[in-house]
Amino acid sequence: MATEPTEMVQRTGATLGPGSAPPERTAQGQRTVGEITVSNPVIVCRNVNVHYGDKQAIRDVSLDIAHNEVIAMIGPSGCGKSTFLRCLNRLNDTIPTAKVTGSITLDGVDVYDRKQDVVQLRARVGMVFQKPNPFPKSVYENVAYGPRIHGLAGDRTELDEIVQTSLMRAGLWEEVKDRLDQPGTALSGGQQQRLCIARTIAVSPEVILMDEPCSALDPIATARIEDLIDELRQNYAICIVTHSMQQAARVSQRTAYFHLGDLIEVGSTDQIFTNPRHKLTEDYITGRFG
Ligand SMILES: Nc1ncnc2c1ncn2[C@@H]1O[C@H](COP(=O)(O)OP(=O)(O)OP(=O)(O)O)[C@@H](O)[C@H]1O
Ligand SMILES: [Mg+2]
Repeated sequence: MATEPTEMVQRTGATLGPGSAPPERTAQGQRTVGEITVSNPVIVCRNVNVHYGDKQAIRDVSLDIAHNEVIAMIGPSGCGKSTFLRCLNRLNDTIPTAKVTGSITLDGVDVYDRKQDVVQLRARVGMVFQKPNPFPKSVYENVAYGPRIHGLAGDRTELDEIVQTSLMRAGLWEEVKDRLDQPGTALSGGQQQRLCIARTIAVSPEVILMDEPCSALDPIATARIEDLIDELRQNYAICIVTHSMQQAARVSQRTAYFHLGDLIEVGSTDQIFTNPRHKLTEDYITGRFG
């Protein structure tokens, strides 16, 4: 079992309760080591803080997410990865005690603006969860639901087309084309996860958030999803939370390392895994912590 070195506790504060010491700032005045900005951002987060009641879960996180990139979010359990992901499409709104401050923009528009239509936002910033969660409806209806409520199809032929294209892009069409009327829940776990991905891309999102999308899958289904992530990058930005460093290394171009609510370091996945600049990152990726 890895133990937490004293130095780590001193650097970050052991808890994120009120009054805990903030981590050191870099010479540039930011907490995070590495380049938080990109030249072609789709999402820009600045000084994002999240509290659940009076407990702080994310502290002063600033990060850009680029078009057509896969960015991996890694870090020990409880460090705030899911919380941060949920900020990006306002899923934290559904948690009564959660309070988000700071600024998050999507294509330059404030995601937290009072005029922002949250249903629309979640179509543009889609989410795939750890546990595949198809609706208790047919395979077809799972994919058709979003385009229908967003009025993306003029008639049944167009809807059929969207359903087929989405299932093809999710790499599931061949396996389900003869069973579109069967319940989505009757598919295997890996197929259900691809169905959820098809459902997400059916509404043409700009960003796909994936929170440990492969953790319930076997290695074959995982490889299938990883290939898919790589293909989807042509059209979308993808933020993936993963506990598998091999997976982060395989699928992402950039990696962000979180620790106790702080974004400690961000950089190219190559650099993070071969030459981490922050000791906390190094300890984590070499297995000394987490
Ligand atoms: N709904 C909630 N209400 C209160 N506290 C919460 C809630 N969700 C998360 N937290 C707390 O916020 C912190 C960050 O949790 P989060 O789920 O974001 O971590 P994580 O990095 O995704 O962890 P894991 O790797 O285990 O999924 C934790 O201390 C957690 O207990
Ligand atoms: Mg999580």
